[in-house]
Amino acid sequence: MTTSISGRIAVVGAGVIGLSVAWRAAVAGHHVTLIDPAPASGASWVAGGMLAPVSEAWHGEEDLLALGVAALERWPGFAEQLRETTGREPGLRTDGTLVVAVDSADLAQLDDLAGHLGKLGHHADRKTGRELRKQEPALGPAIRGGLWLPQDLSVDNRALLATLQQACATAGVTLRETAAHTVSAERVELADGSTIRCGQAVIAAGAWSGRLHPALAGRVRPVKGEVLRLRARRGALPPPTTTVRGTVEGRPVYFVPRADGGLVLGATQYEAGFDTDVQVAGVRDLLRDGERVLPAISEYALLESNAGLRPGSPDNLPIVERLEPGLIAATGHFRNGFLLAPITADKVLELLS
Ligand code: GLY
Repeated sequence: MTTSISGRIAVVGAGVIGLSVAWRAAVAGHHVTLIDPAPASGASWVAGGMLAPVSEAWHGEEDLLALGVAALERWPGFAEQLRETTGREPGLRTDGTLVVAVDSADLAQLDDLAGHLGKLGHHADRKTGRELRKQEPALGPAIRGGLWLPQDLSVDNRALLATLQQACATAGVTLRETAAHTVSAERVELADGSTIRCGQAVIAAGAWSGRLHPALAGRVRPVKGEVLRLRARRGALPPPTTTVRGTVEGRPVYFVPRADGGLVLGATQYEAGFDTDVQVAGVRDLLRDGERVLPAISEYALLESNAGLRPGSPDNLPIVERLEPGLIAATGHFRNGFLLAPITADKVLELLS
């Protein structure tokens, strides 16, 4: 049976958002083409995979916190559906998150976060440095105190991407491994000169979304982040079982453990256009601050250093909306692409119906 053009969906971008949208749309019965010259790469490949709206909360970002909490509630069902569909483990970890502080200014910031969360009805358990080291023996003596947030989770970004790719293939998504040049209502112009005509196009191209349609130009900007991947060597203290976030003299740092014994250490954050070089200074800062939190990493193997481009938006909230008839945006997820993937896919499905 041939599908009319009006029944076809073209999703531009095969990062975590585009893959999630394409999978869900195909399962819902749409005929989906997914367009990306390098699927499952870029920021999605580099990411730490924290699903941590509560520990990420900040003053003035109450809408983002509420959206993140709603997104987190959908994660167990999203992961289970992927597991059932593919027989693969999508990499969801439910071990919780510790937020730790090193100096007295970091501790004051933590108290501020706890107070802010309390006012919004989110409980955070305060812990002394000693209690934290009992829970996670790899934490160093510099840690002065922290918060325990069992509700904040994580996902192995690469396991999830592989699972989503398989789920898309099983659901009949057609993959076009080529770049999109421009996207407009009901059509995608490809860099190879060909055109895909469709009933609705979805721009899910992360930091590059602003280059694809004038309505997104200036609304989505790249925000660079450098991330390291480590592995404990024989004889070294094992990595923590929970996500550990901290501030070291005001600089944020986080560790996200993986089931295979790996440890992701992130992340720098700065605006450098579309530059994805890993700078020496970025690696130095991450290792120096990371060692204050987990001294044992000095004995770990350094496996990878990468830089990704987060798709920043003016208010840090994602842009998931109809731009014009036949054209939807699903972008601007900034630091929260993995967290917001299930709720974004649901919202795009609503917009498609
Ligand atoms: N989600 C954490 C980061 O963007 O570094």
